[in-house]
Amino acid sequence: MLVKENLGPADFERLVDEENATASRLIFTDQSIFELEQEKLFTKAWLYIGHETEIPDEGDYVTRQMATDPVILSRGAHGKIHVLLNSCSHRGTLLCTSDVGSTKGFVCAYHGWVFGLDGSLKATADDMDLYAGKVDFKNLDLKTAARVDTYAGLIFATWDDGAPDLADYLGDARWYLDLFHNRTPEGMEVLGAPHRWVVNTNWKLGAMNFGADGPHAVKVHGPITAATFQVPPTVFRDALVESPAVSMGNGHNGIVTQVPDSLKDQIPPYFGFNPDLMEVYEKHLNPQQNELNRHLIAGVTTMFPNFSSVQGASTFEMDKMPVNFLAIRVWQPVSATQTEIWNWFLVEKEASDEWKQASMLAGVRTFTAGGTFDQDDAEAWVGIAKGIEGNIARQGDVNFQMALAYRDRTIPGFPGPGKVYPSNYGEVTEFDILLEWQKYMKA
Ligand code: FES
Ligand SMILES: [Fe+2]
Repeated sequence: MLVKENLGPADFERLVDEENATASRLIFTDQSIFELEQEKLFTKAWLYIGHETEIPDEGDYVTRQMATDPVILSRGAHGKIHVLLNSCSHRGTLLCTSDVGSTKGFVCAYHGWVFGLDGSLKATADDMDLYAGKVDFKNLDLKTAARVDTYAGLIFATWDDGAPDLADYLGDARWYLDLFHNRTPEGMEVLGAPHRWVVNTNWKLGAMNFGADGPHAVKVHGPITAATFQVPPTVFRDALVESPAVSMGNGHNGIVTQVPDSLKDQIPPYFGFNPDLMEVYEKHLNPQQNELNRHLIAGVTTMFPNFSSVQGASTFEMDKMPVNFLAIRVWQPVSATQTEIWNWFLVEKEASDEWKQASMLAGVRTFTAGGTFDQDDAEAWVGIAKGIEGNIARQGDVNFQMALAYRDRTIPGFPGPGKVYPSNYGEVTEFDILLEWQKYMKA
């Protein structure tokens, strides 16, 4: 194992080789690098915490993670959203142990200190006078995130006072968040509690895969795609090869997989979209966004560092039309070789209950612990962790060299912003996530 204290900018310059589009295998296995990520990346970047519809009313809360730190996401007075370190300021006990609830405040189970929804200390175990005026209780409020902000109902927070505004951090990625998360006037709602499961691999592999790994899709998911998206593997491959990948800036990346030209007369426009909302989409989104949605097969993105989403359409009943789902997820780092995936489904608030149910089912069957796609992916990612951890194996690289063929081939005329590359197969956008990671680690 590397020694954390010995790792400096020159090491991180070497660990991700931009020129050759490779990365050292150590960045996916070494615990010292993982611990430095906690300090240099996860205390600086904006992290996804939850959706506004999970805490609609004053007093509502859910418990979450900001990487290895437990936090409470609460809605306080006047609808204000707070992100509080879930660690009592007395002895440090995990303050709130429920996943979700509604309360007037948080009472510590150890000595009974009481905190408000905004993290302010309201009472100690007994009369504060017992401290004889020697303690400034103002310093014993819960630690709160330095900044909390939302975009399209998505709540983000950062520990860094000096972080850019969320709008600037997301930058051009907002156009793509609008495409998937913001396409009706009322916006999206979350469907139920998060599904959570642990995969024994490094968090970056999932984030990169969604940022996105085109070439794996036909190999790993080809058969199930044929069965559930009703798309033959050859067509699926053509769609991926011919569809663009987008580098949105600041490490945000994704793919927008389109129906191939050869099939546009066979696959109807808005395949899998909610027919009741078609007119609403057309009015709410701009013409360029509608152009992309009209022939969209799938949209897969990672907002740096560890928030991803996937939209697709599936059916498991061959006599029924595919139904769109939108899964969002956080790749929570647990250790260098362990990740907890937190996964939710979103749907337009305006959709009928029947559509919401169908959309949830389409998502649950594909992108969850037991979902067809996640089972395929987890097998591969755990395989990487096993394959690269040995003494000899860890000395090699992880390869993204399709990027060498594609990184200078941006295409003009794409409807959305960002650097746009001609193929989901390019590995450019996937590798771009590591280049952004490298910037944080060198800083
Ligand atoms: S640890 Fe919370 S009140 Fe003592
Ligand atoms: Fe996959």
